[in-house]
Amino acid sequence: MGNINWTELSFGYVKTDYNVRSYYYEGKWSDLEITDSEQVPMHIAATCLHYGQEVFEGLKAFRGKDKKIRIFRMRENALRIRSSARGISMPELPVDMFEKAIITVINKNRRFVPPYESKASLYIRPLLVGMSAQVGIKAANEYLFVVFVIPVGPYFREGFKTTSVGIFREYDRAAPYGTGSYKVGGNYAASLVAGEIAHKKGYSAVLYLDAKEKKYIDECGPANFFGIKNNTYITPKSSSILPSITNKSLMQLVSSMGMKVERRQIPIEELITLDEAGMCGTAAVISPIYRIDDVDKNKSYIFSENREPGPVSIKLYNKLRAIQYGDEEDEFGWITVME
Ligand code: PLP
Ligand code: COI
Repeated sequence: MGNINWTELSFGYVKTDYNVRSYYYEGKWSDLEITDSEQVPMHIAATCLHYGQEVFEGLKAFRGKDKKIRIFRMRENALRIRSSARGISMPELPVDMFEKAIITVINKNRRFVPPYESKASLYIRPLLVGMSAQVGIKAANEYLFVVFVIPVGPYFREGFKTTSVGIFREYDRAAPYGTGSYKVGGNYAASLVAGEIAHKKGYSAVLYLDAKEKKYIDECGPANFFGIKNNTYITPKSSSILPSITNKSLMQLVSSMGMKVERRQIPIEELITLDEAGMCGTAAVISPIYRIDDVDKNKSYIFSENREPGPVSIKLYNKLRAIQYGDEEDEFGWITVME
C-alpha cells in the first residue's frame, strides 16, 4: 500500500504487511508464525466451510499524541473468544497467547497505525476456524488461529452523526438459547438479508427484537443498543446478544459520572420515553440514533428532531475516545501501551 489517506479511510479490508497464525494440532497450539500471505490453504471438508465452526473478535489500537500505540481492553476480547470457542465446541486459546498474537501483529504492522490527528485507528481481527475434515456433524480436531489488522475510519459512513435504524419483524439474527452471545460467523450470515433490506431503505442498521416474544429490544446487527432517560443509562439484558466490551465500558463510565445503569429487558413501547438512543461497539464506537422505525407496524420513535446527537451520547463519545487515544488518564486500567 502506497500513501494512505488516513482521514478518508472507511471500514474495509486493506492489505497490510503481516498476519500471525497458530495451528492447533494433536491437542497443542503451535508457536506463533508470522506471514505476509493473505491466503489460507484448507481441506475441502474443513468444518469451518461446512458447519460454520468459526469464531472471531474485533478490537482496536490507537496512536496517541505522544505517538505511542494503545490497545483497548484486549484481555476482554481474549476472554470472549474463549467463551465463543466453548460455545461451538472449539479449543480455547490461552489468554497470554491471544495477547502475544495481538502485540506481535501490531508490532509487525506499526506503519499502518493511523496518526493521532486522523482520528482513525487500527482494527484488529482475530479469528479461529475448524480446519480438519469432517463430513458427519462433528467438531474438527485441528484449528487455525489468525490475526490480521487493517487501518480503519468510521464503520457507519456518517461517523459520529445520528442515523436511523429499522426493526424488521420477519427477521431474527439469533435465538434465546442459540449462539447470539457468541461471536460466531453464522450470526452475521443470519443478519445479511435483513441488513441489505435495511440499507436499501436508508437505515444504517437493523434493530433486532427478542426472537421469542418480539416484545423487547435485543441489539443492532453490528452493535449493542442503549437508551438514556432520567439520568439513567439503559441497555438490554438478553441471552441472545453479544456481551459488548464497549457497552461494558460505557456502563462503567456512566456510573463514574454519577448516572444510574439499568441492564434489563427494554419493552419496545418504552422507546417512546427515551431521551437518547444509540448503538455501541468496537467498530461502531458510539453511533447515536435519531429515529427507530418499526417498519412492519408503521410506527416511528424519534429521539432527535434536528438529528443532532444528545448531550449524554456526546459526553460518552468524547470520554471514551479520550481514554482510547491517551488524551485522558486511563483510570479504569483499560489500555495496554505498547513499548
Ligand atoms: N453486538 C454485535 C452483534 C457485534 O458484532 C458487536 C461487535 O463486536 C458488538 C455488539 C459490540 O461489541 P464490542 O463492543 O465488544 O465490539
Ligand atoms: C466489531 O465491532 O468489532 C464488529 O465485529 C462489528 C462488525 C464489524 C462485525
